[in-house]
Amino acid sequence: MKIIIVQDYQELSERASQIIIALIENKPDATLGLATGSTPLGLYKVLIDKYDNNVVSFASIKTFNLDEYCGLPQEHPQSYYSFMHRHLFNHIDIMEKNINIPKGIGNDLTALCQEYNDKLSASTIDLQILGIGSNGHIGFNEPGTPFDQETFVVELTSETREANKRFFNSIDEVPQHAITMGIKNIIAAKKIILLASGIVKANAIRKLIFGKITEKFPASALKQHPDVTVIIDREAASLIK
Ligand code: PGA
Repeated sequence: MKIIIVQDYQELSERASQIIIALIENKPDATLGLATGSTPLGLYKVLIDKYDNNVVSFASIKTFNLDEYCGLPQEHPQSYYSFMHRHLFNHIDIMEKNINIPKGIGNDLTALCQEYNDKLSASTIDLQILGIGSNGHIGFNEPGTPFDQETFVVELTSETREANKRFFNSIDEVPQHAITMGIKNIIAAKKIILLASGIVKANAIRKLIFGKITEKFPASALKQHPDVTVIIDREAASLIK
């Protein structure tokens, strides 16, 4: 793993955007794996800014998102479908048909997982953006998820629901389940960038860097991947020096 420590969140967002833009320059029809959560918001802002300034075009880019809550209609403001459109897709020239986000609502969630997994299997993600949960989750792959897991329905841990309740009126409104790419799907990306900012991520970053590879800490699966770049700010890096 390559570790890049930057001063602050803005620099982290800029560095990640540079890697994405360099990829798109080389491969205008690249496939990007995208993440939700607070961490990539700054990156998405920079990408929109670069698009506005004609530095980059997403016209031929294809995307796959990591996950989606179960039980929220796409138009719900906290669905990841809404999140991605609000924070990125509505502001760039990506084509709607090239956007892939798991569907979290329907009678047969297993079939929806299979459908998403089939689409993933038929594609290669050139670059996957990841955040990390304080418990080491990537996507919604919570501790204990087998490393060979493909797209599945996960029951969210109380820690994850608690961390995400800030987006809802109350904890009761936070969905109990989500559909997520499995660790196997994530690891299949050619290149992975993991972003972490702030003191709340310092312990997870310490475990990622110094800990052993174990299913108890899902992000440790990344240590087996040949091309992972971890970009962290000083606070997130505060326990590794
Ligand atoms: P965050 O979430 O970016 O909102 O901190 C990351 C994650 O839980 O994977």
